[in-house]
Amino acid sequence: MKDAKPDTVLAHAGRNPLANHGIVNPPVYHASTVIYPNLEALEASDRAPFDTVNYGRIGTPTSFAFEEAVAELEGGYRAVTAASGLAAISTALMAFTRTGDHVLITDSAYGPTRRFANETLTRYGVTVEYFDPAIGAGIAALLRPNTALVFVESPGSLTFEMQDIPAIAAAAKTVGARVVMDNTWATPLFYQPLRHGVDVSLHAATKYIVGHSDAMLGVLVCTEEVYATVKKAAVSLGTCAGPDDVYLGLRGLRTMRVRLKQHQESGLLLADWLSRRPEVVRVIHPARPDHPGHDLWKRDFTGACGLFSALLHPVPKAALSAMFDGFELFGIGYSWGGFESLILPVRPGAIRTATRWDEPGPLVRLHAGLEDPDDLIRDLERAFARLAAAL
Ligand SMILES: Cc1ncc(COP(=O)(O)O)c(C=O)c1O
Repeated sequence: MKDAKPDTVLAHAGRNPLANHGIVNPPVYHASTVIYPNLEALEASDRAPFDTVNYGRIGTPTSFAFEEAVAELEGGYRAVTAASGLAAISTALMAFTRTGDHVLITDSAYGPTRRFANETLTRYGVTVEYFDPAIGAGIAALLRPNTALVFVESPGSLTFEMQDIPAIAAAAKTVGARVVMDNTWATPLFYQPLRHGVDVSLHAATKYIVGHSDAMLGVLVCTEEVYATVKKAAVSLGTCAGPDDVYLGLRGLRTMRVRLKQHQESGLLLADWLSRRPEVVRVIHPARPDHPGHDLWKRDFTGACGLFSALLHPVPKAALSAMFDGFELFGIGYSWGGFESLILPVRPGAIRTATRWDEPGPLVRLHAGLEDPDDLIRDLERAFARLAAAL
């Protein structure tokens, strides 16, 4: 349906039952080789556009269906599937840079994004500079004639600074720099970066799109202007994903809204409860009015996921271990976006260079899963009791 609302797009995009025996979901194509009926058809395939099925790595009806759905949700021209969120990030960073370029990356970026930029881009003669996530239009002062790319992530996934994306994108355009955004936290539902001047919005679909912690997947949503550049880089780098994982991404989209409603509600509930605990200095959640970037969140985003942090008062390591060792529901582990709640101590200060993080107490990142929030609170309550007993 033309101009369908996002929830309708979630339910219908990327599938065509009547072209598939009436079966509701599209088939999962496992493919490497594609056979041609004759030599002429084989030769024609070499001249075919990127969305033609001519070799498994380039794309299959399964990956095209997933890409179509995510692109439609974000108002993009087309999307490109990757094997992981990080593969999407490295593909974007390679797509827009060449020797002699300068790139600007938010200081709050996901750690492995920094690692790729620092260890790989620099090997090809690209200068990498980090900027304060709160910089907004002030980024103009850092832009150089050779700035090819500005990489933003809002909010940052450990410290949750909101960025003024429209202001940053407008400034970047003045020197012709491309803007790439890691939009994993907001998902395609709560922020559509391409509508605000961003050229590529990428996702670790591993998180909320897949939603069940059982697949690795990435996706880059592109404007028409940059799609060919990104797809060419993806083809050169071998960026693609296994069909079963792509299918899990497409299936995850169908229930993403209802899952996110609960993640959002439980996340805010836990944040509120934590904010009233004596062990907590402050909670860091963009959807709370006490967050320094709350106005930006309110202006630009239409919702929040279940990921946020809580800064604790300083405690000895043994007490923190006592708190962590014994959770019944919260898993201690990396990643987020699945149905299960997670908790993790994080150390943003260790990777920052443009800004400082020198809070003395531990920063704890929580992912509110789909369990009953009362039970999650009981699990946290017991954890604080263990902490108190160890002091
Ligand atoms: C904000 C953010 N971007 C990207 C990634 C990378 O995604 P993946 O684990 O699918 O490579 C992660 C993973 O934790 C993340 O938190």
